[in-house]
Amino acid sequence: MIVVKPVTFNFCETEIDALATAEGRIAVLVPPEGKMDVAARRINRLTKGALARLIEARAAEAKPGQAVTLAFPTGLAAEAVDVVFLARNADVETARKAGVALAKLRGKSALTLCAGSFRKTAQILMGLALRDYEFDDHKSEEAPEDARAVQVMASKPEEVQSEAAPLLAIAEGVFMTRDLTNEPANVLTTTEFANRLVAMKDIGLDVEVLDEDKLTQLGMGALLSVGQGSDSPSKVVVMQWRGGDKDAAPLALVGKGVVFDTGGISLKPAAGMEDMTMDMGGAGVVAGAMRSLALRKAKANVVGLVGLVENMPSGGATRPGDVVTSMKGDTIEVINTDAEGRLVLCDVLHYAQKEFSPAGIIDLATLTGAIIIGLGHDKAGVFSNDDTFCNRFLKAAESENEGAWRMPLGQSYADLLKSRIADMKNTGGRPAGSVTAAEFLHRFIAKGTPWIHLDIAGVASVKADTAFAPKGATGWGVMALNRFVSDHFEKAE
Ligand code: BES
Ligand code: MN
Ligand code: ZN
Repeated sequence: MIVVKPVTFNFCETEIDALATAEGRIAVLVPPEGKMDVAARRINRLTKGALARLIEARAAEAKPGQAVTLAFPTGLAAEAVDVVFLARNADVETARKAGVALAKLRGKSALTLCAGSFRKTAQILMGLALRDYEFDDHKSEEAPEDARAVQVMASKPEEVQSEAAPLLAIAEGVFMTRDLTNEPANVLTTTEFANRLVAMKDIGLDVEVLDEDKLTQLGMGALLSVGQGSDSPSKVVVMQWRGGDKDAAPLALVGKGVVFDTGGISLKPAAGMEDMTMDMGGAGVVAGAMRSLALRKAKANVVGLVGLVENMPSGGATRPGDVVTSMKGDTIEVINTDAEGRLVLCDVLHYAQKEFSPAGIIDLATLTGAIIIGLGHDKAGVFSNDDTFCNRFLKAAESENEGAWRMPLGQSYADLLKSRIADMKNTGGRPAGSVTAAEFLHRFIAKGTPWIHLDIAGVASVKADTAFAPKGATGWGVMALNRFVSDHFEKAE
């Protein structure tokens, strides 16, 4: 059995006698040429040939991974039989999409999947789990227990289960990210966020919380200036996973965790402001990625750092025109208190380098509205000072179906951040808003340290269903980062 909220997967051999009485829905896999396996043949007999007629009628025009339904079949207790057209050599993406199709069809029904000897059954389960996610913590109507159970029948059930386990560990990380990102700001305060991260000590992560006194002592004046208008204390949380060689330099993941972004004194307009509960999405991805790595016991050293703050207006809040001093020592003129993410990240980025001398850094942030204008909702903006490091990440993202597109950096953009009275200002005006934001961060990266900045404002949470997620938080990036780590940071057995 594998439980990934809200799905429970049970594994068994193909029990054709159980098919007549199975409740909910039954899914069978049929290759495009229409040949039925033993389970399908049994269902066909029980339904007096209805299954074969459906397959014959639909196989020719069916797309790979697509499902067609035999509804209310006579001869079966099940409410429907879903036929998934899937070639034996289907690729990962198609297998996952087949799982998505089943998740959409089943709604809240139980499901029996007759997978036979299909080799990528684990990938079907991954797609199914990713799409079956629901954020219902604040719905008062409770889901009936076990309603979302999936019975997986396969010729080698133990093999399928052991292939599914690491994939579903990754899905659990994705779900953590989605839960955090969907959570409203009155629930997910900086303190609650930190507590949820500390709870990951249970799965073998080393977690340390730096409080405001410590941050003051470290000199994180930029980060602290963002949270100073809020009653919730600012925090930095450091999560370490040490699964690699003792002396191997870690990969550092850094996340923007603004639990709510009102804009501060540069207040945002009321319409749509409720969406700013997702402004901790970068920190959410870092948390979910760390969870995935720990659950599957990755053989790599990875440190995750998140800056948790709330950007509120108050009598004590930072004003436009204030000058703050970062931990690195550079002074920053705050032109717009709504450009707060970079103020948080610059101190955490500096701390990450000073404390861990990482082999590379990836930061994630819902940093700019401008990246939504540029790339919309299916690709994140990618900025980097290192072509090799960057191309490796782009490849990992592509193979996990997470859209990513490289954007430029350059001195002419950096020049837009010149301040009359301080070392830099925190905004560069409207043109190339995402690039000047990235250039701001770039100033805090030591020469020679490979670095990628991911602007995920457009992809972290979306208003329509995506290929692998229902509307709301997507968990974008957890799978790409996990893949990036396994391809480039894990030592061979
Ligand atoms: N959190 C926002 C960016 C954002 C916008 C995320 C929409 C998700 C959806 C960020 O802190 C912000 O307010 N950025 C400003 C920067 C500007 C003041 C230079 C923006 O994009 O308008
Ligand atoms: Mn803002
Ligand atoms: Zn923000």
